[in-house]
Amino acid sequence: MTDATDATIATVRGRRVWDSRGRPTVEVEVALANGASGRAIAPAGASMGSGEAVDLRDGGNAFGGQDVTNALAGVNGPIASALRSLDAYDQSGIDRLLMQLDGTPNLSRLGGNALVATSMAVLHAAAASSRQPLWRYLAGDDAVRMPLPEIQIFGGGAHAARRVDVQDFMIMCPSAGSFSEALEWTAEVYRAAGAIMKRAGKLQGVADEGGYWPAFDTNEEALEALTQAIMDSGLRPGEDVGISLDIAASEFGRNGRYTLALDGRTLDTAQLSDMLGRWLDAYPIISIEDPLAEDDEAGFRQFTQAYGSRCQIIGDDFLVTNAARVEAAASSRAVNAVLIKPNQAGTVSEARAALRAGKQAGFGTIVSARSGETEDVTIAHLAVGWNAGQLKVGSFSRSERMAKWNEVLRIEEALGAQARFSGWAALPFDHSAAAASASCRTNS
Ligand code: PGA
Ligand code: ZN
Repeated sequence: MTDATDATIATVRGRRVWDSRGRPTVEVEVALANGASGRAIAPAGASMGSGEAVDLRDGGNAFGGQDVTNALAGVNGPIASALRSLDAYDQSGIDRLLMQLDGTPNLSRLGGNALVATSMAVLHAAAASSRQPLWRYLAGDDAVRMPLPEIQIFGGGAHAARRVDVQDFMIMCPSAGSFSEALEWTAEVYRAAGAIMKRAGKLQGVADEGGYWPAFDTNEEALEALTQAIMDSGLRPGEDVGISLDIAASEFGRNGRYTLALDGRTLDTAQLSDMLGRWLDAYPIISIEDPLAEDDEAGFRQFTQAYGSRCQIIGDDFLVTNAARVEAAASSRAVNAVLIKPNQAGTVSEARAALRAGKQAGFGTIVSARSGETEDVTIAHLAVGWNAGQLKVGSFSRSERMAKWNEVLRIEEALGAQARFSGWAALPFDHSAAAASASCRTNS
């Protein structure tokens, strides 16, 4: 007879499923002795930091070399054997074991994709066993806030055949009263942006994360269209709705040289920083991710010193969800926010450690999806349950994106009157002080 309280792992099973780019990816299903089970799917990046956990692919001819039979063999072989009979509630012990089992610093033997899907599946199984929704299981007795969503309107960079250099043109609605209202405002802006593209004869479908395909002649034209879309929605740029950019500068720069293909220019660190600074003055930008390349630590420091008092400056490729790197960036003040992508770290516990290091430093913390996604909604629960304050999922179209937004709506409903929206408080700068000095600039 099975013991209903026995949360030991009975089976671990990996299977190949397909992601939002039509590529193979790893799904893992974990069943416990008490009958509870959990399932999770690994996402995949396109603009990856060099310090990320390795996304293990077969190479060869099948599916453009993207098949995952080796990663699955690891799940169904050594990982399944090692996890059998372990306590699913011991997430950190299991994650430590997974890293030891791999044994390489970048998880290249078993693959970060095999590990993260397993780690998240164990987490889901434990939550199911405790008969709680995942976000509640993660939060325990701690207070949670509904995350401020960061939602893409135009997609560029590696997600749109480099049609524009900047990767994400997003919005944030920190003045909304709730997560659901932030989505309502975003829906209006997304629609208005589509109408602007259509009128200009530039509506050409969507990029990898569901943002409009950026048929712009310059990077700045996208900023102008986005500001216009906010105004066309009857919302105040910079007050109700702010712009958030992911420059993803590692994609077009290294060794302090940055080549903007669209604008036909090569810039050094200071010139790129100055250009972004001018954009900050001219447009209602409240957040910038990876303004410089992952190898440009000095550039990050100078940029954050110059603009960190009025803008969130996020490290993604630069910090790769690594607690030690976050701690180093905190002491050198190289950023004031960190992106948390579980598959960059390889396990739930490593991702949580990076988030904790960010919070410890007073950073903004943003749980993030990847450009290759699926119906898996784990990150929606991580953002709420870890009280991250912010969530980045891509755009406001395509179901692999909407599944996450809709899941947060359900959580907000479940919290009812207790639901608190993070709003401006999620951002690591003083909005009222920044707004006051911006109006001084305009008045002078
Ligand atoms: P990726 O892009 O998932 O393709 O790496 C997302 C990001 O850079 O934030
Ligand atoms: Zn990024």
